[in-house]
Formats: sequence, structure tokens, C-alpha cells
Amino acid sequence: MSKTKRTKKAAGSDNIESMLREDRVFKPSKEFSKQAHIGSMAQYKKLYKRSIDDPEGFWGEQAEKELTWFKPWSKVLQWKAPNAKWFVGGQTNVSVNCLDRFLDSEKANQAAIIWEGEPAAPGIPGEERTLTYRQLHREVCQFANVLKARGIKKGDVVLIYMPMVPEAAVAMLACTRIGAIHSVVFGGFSAQSVADRIQDSQAKMVLTSDGGFRRGGVVPLKENVDNALKIKVKGRFITKSIESVIVLRRTKNKVTMKKGRDFWWHEEQAKASAECKPAKLNSEHPLFILYTSGSTGKPKGILHTTAGYLLGAKLTSKYVFDLKDNDVYWCTADIGWITGHSYVVYGPLANGATTLMYEGAPNWPGPDRFWDLVEKHRVSILYTAPTAIRAFMKWGEEWPRKHDLSSLRLLGTVGEPINPEAWMWYHRVIGGSRCPIVDTWWQTETGGIMISPLPGVTPTKPGTATLPFFGVKPEVVDDNGKAVPKNSGGKLVVRQPWPSMLRGIWGDPKRFVETYWSEVKGNYFTGDGCRQDKDGYFWIVGRIDDVLNVSGHRIGTAEVESALVSHPQVAEAAVVGRPDEIKGQALVAFVTLKGSNKGNKKLLEELRQHVGKEIGPVAKPDNVRFADALPKTRSGKIMRRLLKQIAAGNVEVQGDTSTLEDANVIAQLSKDAS
Ligand code: WTA
Repeated sequence: MSKTKRTKKAAGSDNIESMLREDRVFKPSKEFSKQAHIGSMAQYKKLYKRSIDDPEGFWGEQAEKELTWFKPWSKVLQWKAPNAKWFVGGQTNVSVNCLDRFLDSEKANQAAIIWEGEPAAPGIPGEERTLTYRQLHREVCQFANVLKARGIKKGDVVLIYMPMVPEAAVAMLACTRIGAIHSVVFGGFSAQSVADRIQDSQAKMVLTSDGGFRRGGVVPLKENVDNALKIKVKGRFITKSIESVIVLRRTKNKVTMKKGRDFWWHEEQAKASAECKPAKLNSEHPLFILYTSGSTGKPKGILHTTAGYLLGAKLTSKYVFDLKDNDVYWCTADIGWITGHSYVVYGPLANGATTLMYEGAPNWPGPDRFWDLVEKHRVSILYTAPTAIRAFMKWGEEWPRKHDLSSLRLLGTVGEPINPEAWMWYHRVIGGSRCPIVDTWWQTETGGIMISPLPGVTPTKPGTATLPFFGVKPEVVDDNGKAVPKNSGGKLVVRQPWPSMLRGIWGDPKRFVETYWSEVKGNYFTGDGCRQDKDGYFWIVGRIDDVLNVSGHRIGTAEVESALVSHPQVAEAAVVGRPDEIKGQALVAFVTLKGSNKGNKKLLEELRQHVGKEIGPVAKPDNVRFADALPKTRSGKIMRRLLKQIAAGNVEVQGDTSTLEDANVIAQLSKDAS
């Protein structure tokens, strides 16, 4: 950053910086604490201590109280790092815990899912649907019968590639009813990504839709599936495990239906009985696979299992969101991500709550879409991502100001560190300075929230996820796995197993051990950097591996690089993150071209599109920079640290460059940057 720029920023942010001092603390109001499930620090501390000192006692009690079982477990935990078995010998079913459990009470007629579709244009309301617990149960049972009729059995993998519609939740729950394993793929991923996930998981069926609406356009999901099913490698279809595709009709678009393979959802559903006995599943029966990016290679299929995951999702939803019967709870995540799994579907439904599902973008048809929905449905709990909050800030206060947001009582954030400015804005403008904010730290791998304030208890400070949830023992450690002193930076690890922890990487036990259990032996390594302050609060710094967090989405640099080098003109590629005001991080690709090819605007756009095609629009680089060579160490490793500085616009590269193979490379790149 140039000197003048820095001076200007400092002057402008004097005020805000003093407002955001680390010791600025927001205490929960007495009214909130009084009505909260957990209302005092003493109560939290006592329960927390118990959960750490006697995890089996604590979790055994919770599992008994919170879940419905066909058969009780004989042992709460069997732990031989890195393999955990929770509630050994027990049998349960997730759909029973999310649906049947409430059918004998008045909850049966309470809204389970309130759904809003995206409006076609300003002034035209979106589609709207409400499903009570009874109605959702019926749909789920029917669809479970559809799955069975089309040959899906316990243990089979079903790939779900659908828009944010109630049927997506129906599909997930129907899988759980019969013990099929779902693998949800975010609608923003490409045909190639769908094919890769089918190949890796050996899925037998795809559930999709003729399209999903996004910002006034249609995402061609079925067409992507068709393309995925055509992909051949060395003359062989990589998706040959797929036997059938079930397609939800959602748009008026024409799609091709392949005879004998493709079936319409509504036609199948109409034929199916509404009675379906739930499968009695072992606690450790695989529940779902969810692919997530790592620092190397292709995305890995994170495996979660039945009872432990459900208990984690249920308990965290109950205590972190302080869920009550009359809440209207809205988590804005897509079901393609873990947040959608745990906090749109499983957590809220297991608590018998009302969960709002929304299909579209936050700024369609106008920048006040979210606030319109909050007002319309009297949303009381809102859970969203810092990247969305930063976008709202940019669009201006006038949009939320147009709406009555007084129904809100609690706000949450997830996905990336929240900058204090965004926290303060969320607190003041959306929360009317009255709602507690829960900044929740967790991961696809952890299944549920790990570090978060409890809203009736924990004094919050903007920018920290504060303290661990019950049963979670995080620690900030050095390279030898030794705890570092307070206020020093280090790696975040978790010392003890917890029920909703991942059970493995689908089909790759070796990678599971290497990625998560080798950094500090016997401990779970999160991949995040962290610092604990004097009060013991955890301040997550962000990823310390080669995973970027773009708008709260995890993107592995290695994956984008291999997409780039698969383009015929690209010789080498290195992808790094640069700070971005809205997205948190933006993707910058440095590319060298083959032969005498020269970079230009057209090729830049072509490469972005190419990545979009290989991985999906979410992974398109924000910028592509052409270079004659990439800076490397003498041993041939790309010096990402330097590229990051160049990408961030720090032209005078800081740090040690003495191991550079060719100092001219960096001079050239820096010159290009200026
Ligand atoms: C980051 C999303 C800071 C972190 C649930 C983690 C956060 C990665 C927070 C997991 C938070 C998530 N504060 N950083 N409150 N929440 N992260 O698997 O780097 O998509 O490792 O799970 O997001 O992303 P994932």
C-alpha cells in the first residue's frame, strides 16, 4: 500500500477504531438472559466443565434426553484416535427425530418449513409454500418410497443437485428414512464437479431439477447433470454408477428426459404410498457425504454419521440460537454447504422449530430482499455470513431502514472471520442495538458449531467467536503441539473427540489421517490460525493452509490451479487470495502461457470461463495475471507468500526473497502490478 493511502485510511477510521477496541464488550440484556435456555455464566461453566471432565456422562445424558432411539446404546464413546464411535450399539433414525417425534403433539400442525421462491421480477411476488411437520412427514415418506421403488437401498449414495426448494430438504430426509447416504452438491458447481463427485462416491441416483432461479436467471441444473453423465475419461463414462435421475419440475424450460433413466419427481411422487417405515439404523451408519476443498488435490468427501451428527446439530441449534417454539428461524445458507445441512435442515427440524428457506439472491429483485422477508415472516433469528453483511453495508442503511425488523431477537454469523466494522453495523442497523450476535466458528468437518457465544450468557466482543461449546476442547498450539501463551498466535486444534466430528474422508482413510490427525498427533487439526485473548476468547485468524475463503466458500488453490493448467494455452498457474472488501478474499491467478502465447483480455476472460466450467462459477478467479515466469525457490516451490503480496498490491515485496531462483521474476511481476 502506498504511503498516502495508508495515511488517509488511518485518519478516516480513527473513530471506528476506538469504537472497536478489543476490550469493547457487549453484555446480554437481562431480558434475554431471563428467557434463554442457558441464562448464566455459572450455568455454562458448570455444564462445560462437566462435558470436558466426563464427556461420556454428559453426552449420554443429552442423547437420552434429546433423541428418540429404537435401541439404546451400550457404550457412549469408543475412541482410538482418529477413529471415534459414538453411542455404540444404539439404533435410531434421523427422519424420525426430525419429523415423527412431533406428530403426536400440537407441533404436527406447526410450520416446519416456510419457503419463499425468488420473485421473477420487481413487483411480482415469489412463490410461497409452508409445510407443517405433518405435511413434511408425508412428503418425506412418499419420496422415501420413490427412492426404494427406483432401487435405492440402505447404504447407497444419492447425489442431490437441487435449488433451495423444500423438495431438497424432502430429498435429504427421505434418504435418512431408508438409510441411503446423501451427497448434496451445491447448484453453483459445474457438470464436471458433479461428475467428479459421482465418480468418487459411486452414487446410484441423481436428484435434480429442470432449473433453479437465481437473480432473474435460470440455473440449468438438469442440463448440467446431462453433461456430467456424458463425461468420459479414456473412453469410459466416469459416472456409470448412476442408474436413474429424478427431476423436479420448477421452470417452464424444456429439458431432455432420457427414457428409462430420467423420471419426473411429481409423477413418481404421485404413485408412491405415504407410509414408509423408518429404517432402524446403527448410530454410526453413514448419514451423508459432503465434499469440501482441501489444500491439495480434488475435494474430499467428508463423512458424517447418524446419531452423533444429529445430536450435535440439535444441541448447538438449541443453545446457540436459543430456539423456542414460537421462533421463526432463518439461516440464509444454501443446502449445498454444511451450514445448510446442519442449520437449515437437521438442527432446526430436530428441535421442532420453524425454518425459513429462501431460494434467491439477497439483492434480487432489490437490495432489501432479506429485510422484506424478515418483515413479512416476522423472522426472530437470522443466521448469515459476514460477506453478506459487508454487501448490505455497501448497499446502504436505507434498505433495511425501509422495513420493520423489530421481530428479530438474535443474530448469527458464520463462514469467515467477521471484521469488527461489519459486526457493529449488523448489531446497530439490523439488530437495533438490542439483539445479541453469535459469531459461530466451525467447519464442514466438525458437523456443528464449535466455538460461539451463548446468547443469554457470553459477553461478546466484535470479531471473536468467544468460547467453546459443550464438549469441545480447542487449544491454540505451536508447531510441536504445545499450547502457546495467551495472546500469541498459533494453530487451532481440538484435543478431544466430539459427537458430530467427521468420521473420515470417503474412500480415503490415509488422507483422513494425514490431513487432520498428523499435524499434532492424536489431536484434530483445523487448518485455522488462532489467538486466545486474556479472557480466553478465541480469535480465528483464518486458514493457514492453501485453502481460500471467498465469500464464505472454501476454495482450494490447488483445485483452481489444476483447472487452469487443463487449459491448452496455460503452462503453469499459481492461485492466491487477495483481501477483498466484500468477499473477504478474492482469487488471483498468476499464469504463464505455453510457447509464445501472449496474455490479453480475451484470454483472461476465457480462462475465467474455463475455471467456471471445470469447477463452477464460485471458483472463477477475480483476476488473472499473465507472467513470463512464476517466482520459485531453488527447490522449485512456487513462492506464494510473494505472490500474495503482489496480488494485494504491495509492490515493494516484504520478507525474505533470498531463496528466489530468479530475482528478475519478482521484479517483473512487481512492475506489472504497479
Ligand atoms: C472459516 C463453514 C472465523 C474457518 C461452517 C473454517 C470462520 C472454515 C468462522 C470452514 C468464524 C467458519 N470465524 N472463521 N465464525 N466460521 N470459518 O467448511 O476458516 O465451509 O476453517 O464450514 O471457515 O469452512 P466450511
